[in-house]
Amino acid sequence: MSIVNRRDFISRASAIGLAPLAESWWGGAQATGSAAGPSQARVFIDPAFRIARLDRNLFSSFIEHLGRAVYGGIYEPGSPLADSDGFRKDTLEVIREVGVPMIRYPGGNFVSGYDWLNGVGPKKDRPTLLDRAWDSIETNQFGTDEFMLWCKKAGTLPLMAVNLGSGNPMHASQLVEYCNLAKGTKYSDLRRQYGHEEPYNVKHWCLGNEMDGPWQIGHCTAPEYGLRAATTARMMRAISDDLFLVACGSSGPFMPTYLEWDQQTLEQCYDVVDAISLHRYYNNTTETGGDTRHYLALNLTMDRQIEEIQAVCDMVRGRVRSNKTLYLSFDEWNVWYRARNGDGHKQFAPHLTEEVYNLEDALLVGGLINSLLRHSDRVKVACLAQLVNALAALLTDGKMVLKQTIFYPYFWALQNCHGDTLNVAVESPTYEVKDLGQVPYLDAVATRDPEKGKVCVLVLNRDLENSREFEVNWRADAPTRVLTSQVITGPDLKAENTFDHPNKVVPAKQDPPKLNGARTTIEVPAKSYSLFVFQTH
Ligand code: AHR
Repeated sequence: MSIVNRRDFISRASAIGLAPLAESWWGGAQATGSAAGPSQARVFIDPAFRIARLDRNLFSSFIEHLGRAVYGGIYEPGSPLADSDGFRKDTLEVIREVGVPMIRYPGGNFVSGYDWLNGVGPKKDRPTLLDRAWDSIETNQFGTDEFMLWCKKAGTLPLMAVNLGSGNPMHASQLVEYCNLAKGTKYSDLRRQYGHEEPYNVKHWCLGNEMDGPWQIGHCTAPEYGLRAATTARMMRAISDDLFLVACGSSGPFMPTYLEWDQQTLEQCYDVVDAISLHRYYNNTTETGGDTRHYLALNLTMDRQIEEIQAVCDMVRGRVRSNKTLYLSFDEWNVWYRARNGDGHKQFAPHLTEEVYNLEDALLVGGLINSLLRHSDRVKVACLAQLVNALAALLTDGKMVLKQTIFYPYFWALQNCHGDTLNVAVESPTYEVKDLGQVPYLDAVATRDPEKGKVCVLVLNRDLENSREFEVNWRADAPTRVLTSQVITGPDLKAENTFDHPNKVVPAKQDPPKLNGARTTIEVPAKSYSLFVFQTH
């Protein structure tokens, strides 16, 4: 949450044990800030105000058997763009270059009707089936082994989901055996028989998908799911004991069972899981009435969702008398409201959910990245949903891969956020938004790489009319050099990148911040998301 007044600032600082320092800091800042008036913004950065060591899995993504995500997105044998394994070289190259740390697979809703055994073994023997989640034809030509090979080539790690809808704990633990046991058992030897001698050692697993949703195959009540998840977790851990397991939390705050689902689920499985999932898709229609000033504030509702789920986790920790801290896995988040078509009409690789993103979506995605970063003490995994073709940062046609507008803020985070996340204090003028109250125009976060002495600052300016100048007040380690100063902005909030015009919305250089000892002056344009990287020593 951006900090806009003294009380917020002191309370955030108290939460990390720095109340006395914060008191004097705030006082000093108030007294010495010469230009500070009601319209003047300031940002305070102190390396001592550390939130967490950044877990790079915060910038993970997701590829589901949905529409053209797999078939035509990352796998297209026969295409001139495919390599000898049938993988699209162009998407593979972009994903490898940007360094996506982990990718969730194979669903999503798809996983709740999926039998992983249909997707392994000789391709000629794999059955073609109807996927009931998306009413699409699934040929099973791409399955677990292809995904593991693709991950290796893409330089990423798998976040595997197991089927707890039509599947059960036994099927799930057999998949873990197939993936992680070296040899000497039915499923580990099956993997070897299929030509994969070495185990994959998959660490991160999701225990089903959105089991609170009536749309989900195998949907059930929270206590039922919680017991199912607990049994599954125990059976999986009997095979590999160093797994990171994620239970299904609420599909979003819109659910009638929001929070109650999470509480009842965790009461059954708290001790055997590591995290609970959060999902959320934002829109600029029903939530906002099409008002972009409101839309760009929606990342504050992500902050709220995280804090509410965190509160439930901590409440259950007390109830079950556990010493363990439960983490959060925000394993589906993005903008999604235009391409809602989820019916494949029994076609193979239909064009489903191919959302086209514009500038304002990219700005919100920037704000959402800020929200994830400032909660990185508890959110250890988050997946931009998704990566290719379905609700995706990347779109393919027969000839090329297109980087959509939302690719760029995600790319910035991947490339520039390293080390520690810092608890940045932001003093900003505000504007009123229905249901949200006073919203700060500026939303800023920072990460600091202590080894390299680099500080990355990401700033959303929600002001649609005016550029905003602010001062960064460095409490220690003032910068000596500006390494990067870039911005995503433009005159048209609805501008999109298309195959014909792929560079309408791309990052541009902007005037570098003015360094002056412990004070740095920065100006960010109206309706913008900015990246600054500073060298501090
Ligand atoms: O990402 C698309 C779908 O959205 C996923 O399959 C499901 O989990 C969510 O409802």
